[in-house]
Amino acid sequence: MGHAIAVALFLHLLGVAVWVGGMIFAHFCLRPALEDLSPQLRLPLIESVFGRFFNWVGVSVIVILLSGGFLLMQLGGEHATWQLHAMAGLGVLMMLIFGHIRFAVFPRIRRAVQAQKWPDGARAVGTVRRLVVINLVLGIVTIGVAVLARGF
Ligand code: HEM
Repeated sequence: MGHAIAVALFLHLLGVAVWVGGMIFAHFCLRPALEDLSPQLRLPLIESVFGRFFNWVGVSVIVILLSGGFLLMQLGGEHATWQLHAMAGLGVLMMLIFGHIRFAVFPRIRRAVQAQKWPDGARAVGTVRRLVVINLVLGIVTIGVAVLARGF
């Protein structure tokens, strides 16, 4: 394996670990732990945690896209296997969903916290939760497709 391909694969997997691992932590550890807090405590905390996490995901998305695009070119471009194209398609879908969370739903949480409109904030957090579950499932399926791409 060439050095450039090894570095790209390393960065690709690092990005995937941050993104998918972060979603597992948020959904299965953070969310249940905050459930019993009052909205006045919970929503500002969620806003500040999401604000930081989404910056990490934003960087991961750029790294995954660049490294994945590079790897795809190295492995045949448009002639690459269907599994690699499926990974790219699922990856782009996950990125669009993330973009919607970050630029459409998250600002609603921010505005609700600033205006102390707790029910509005809780509704937007519920939307983020549903979209994160979808992206988590897609992420796990994508990892499975990536393994299939090995051709076992
Ligand atoms: C923009 C989209 C993406 C493109 C173009 C892309 C492309 C690629 C390519 C070409 C490889 C190298 C495969 C090989 O070495 O045989 C790879 C590896 C991998 N990708 Fe992606 N990928 C993308 C998004 C994702 C996402 C979102 C995930 C997971 C959530 C993911 C998970 C993996 C994994 C686990 C590997 C390692 C597979 C292996 O080497 O056996 N990729 N990707």
